[in-house]
Amino acid sequence: MRLTVIGTGYLGAVHAACMAAIGHDVLGVDTDTEKITALAEGRPPFYEPGLDEVLTQGLASGNLRFTTRLNEAAAHGEVHFICVGTPQQAGSRAADLRYVDSVVNGLVPHLRSSCLVVGKSTVPVGTTERLTEHVANLAPPGVRAEVAWNPEFLREGYAVEDTLRPDRIVTGVNSSQADETLRRVYAPMLSAGVPYISTDPNTAELVKVAANSFLATKISFINAMAEVCDAAGADVVTLADAIGHDTRIGRRFLNAGVGFGGGCLPKDIRAFAARAQELGAGPAVAFLDQVDEINGRQRTRTVALARRMAGGDLTGRSVAVLGATFKPDSDDVRDSPALAIAAALREEGADVRVHDPEGTANAALAHPELYCETDVLTACQNAELVLHLTEWAQYRELDPVKLSRVVRVPVLIDGRNALAHDEWRSAGWTVKALGRSAPSPRRILAAAEPAPSRLVPPPGANSTAP
Ligand code: UDX
Repeated sequence: MRLTVIGTGYLGAVHAACMAAIGHDVLGVDTDTEKITALAEGRPPFYEPGLDEVLTQGLASGNLRFTTRLNEAAAHGEVHFICVGTPQQAGSRAADLRYVDSVVNGLVPHLRSSCLVVGKSTVPVGTTERLTEHVANLAPPGVRAEVAWNPEFLREGYAVEDTLRPDRIVTGVNSSQADETLRRVYAPMLSAGVPYISTDPNTAELVKVAANSFLATKISFINAMAEVCDAAGADVVTLADAIGHDTRIGRRFLNAGVGFGGGCLPKDIRAFAARAQELGAGPAVAFLDQVDEINGRQRTRTVALARRMAGGDLTGRSVAVLGATFKPDSDDVRDSPALAIAAALREEGADVRVHDPEGTANAALAHPELYCETDVLTACQNAELVLHLTEWAQYRELDPVKLSRVVRVPVLIDGRNALAHDEWRSAGWTVKALGRSAPSPRRILAAAEPAPSRLVPPPGANSTAP
């Protein structure tokens, strides 16, 4: 099928390359010339494992091309996927739909034949309904352009895998013809048994924000438990393991730490709350404000812990921050807890050096005041405090003994609860983490271990057994 993918950011570039990989004839479109040039040369404009392979393969097969011209796209596609950003509006919680609107306004008047316009961006419920009328008015005479919504659930770092082998495909359509077209687009996934949920556009739009709200709630729930664990002297990781064994709860997305960030969860829960308010359903999702607030609090709690570990004042203290991106296997620093904490430490007068395997270029653009390092040992040189804030695999492989010789004072705050604390402690480090205030199991066991005592009878003594 001839598809266009409009918007080649984290979502669109991966969608375009993966649609070409399953055999469609794809034209990727973006207004950013640099991005289009890079993609056309097989260079992904951002870090995403596996994207370079599908991109190169698509370009080599001739199934994948890129352009900056929307009218070229209008002539190419039987199906046009809209994959542009829907950021948070400045000064409001609501989503900014200007990029979606501008694609529709730029594309639809140039259409030459009937087609399907499919939104993939995360939008407020009711967007398909609104655009359907607008598109009908904009389309040239005799051209029928139907609008449908097909939310995307991919995770950064696993975007290619999630697109080629999704958990489910959800489409919101207004006609059986649109349903039929989308089933043809995703035919290889359907024959591989991927669940396909075809519904009305309002439900499809809501599925996406409901899913992200649930995930955000799960993370804030465990972070709230971490706060209670700190107040009570308990351990949140053991608690998460224990409740996670209940299959109704599940262990995934119960990792307590500095909280969630990125280009999706934070802005999506805010936009959902704002939209629900407009619909008169604000009270139903008022808990999302709490989810957001708990999330923000983990950042201030981490800074407070750092301040405490620095003896109450961070001024002039040498601090190494491991991680800048909002999650590992990505170079995305949008709303990154790691960077926000690094900036707050710097604001308090600390001398901060940030390390990240892939995110230093974006980090330097977002926070030019921060000093970024590409070598982890250099970042930790003479540090009085090390904060581990994004759980890249390479940090788990750090040798705490070697690192203890590089820093000035071996104090670690593990903001992701992902390092082997016992190993670090054995190497001489003081290790702190949110939600880990229980006495260490080793100490409990040591205290419980019976001292050689006359009160403990030797095995077999007093036994009446044969
Ligand atoms: C998310 C959704 O998972 C995805 O389905 C949707 O399409 C887009 O938004 P993404 O933003 O790539 O994907 O990241 P995700 O893996 O969901 O992580 C989001 C944030 O939550 C990260 O900052 C991560 O570190 C944090 N997180 C995740 C936790 O703090 N604890 C957890 O247990 C899980």
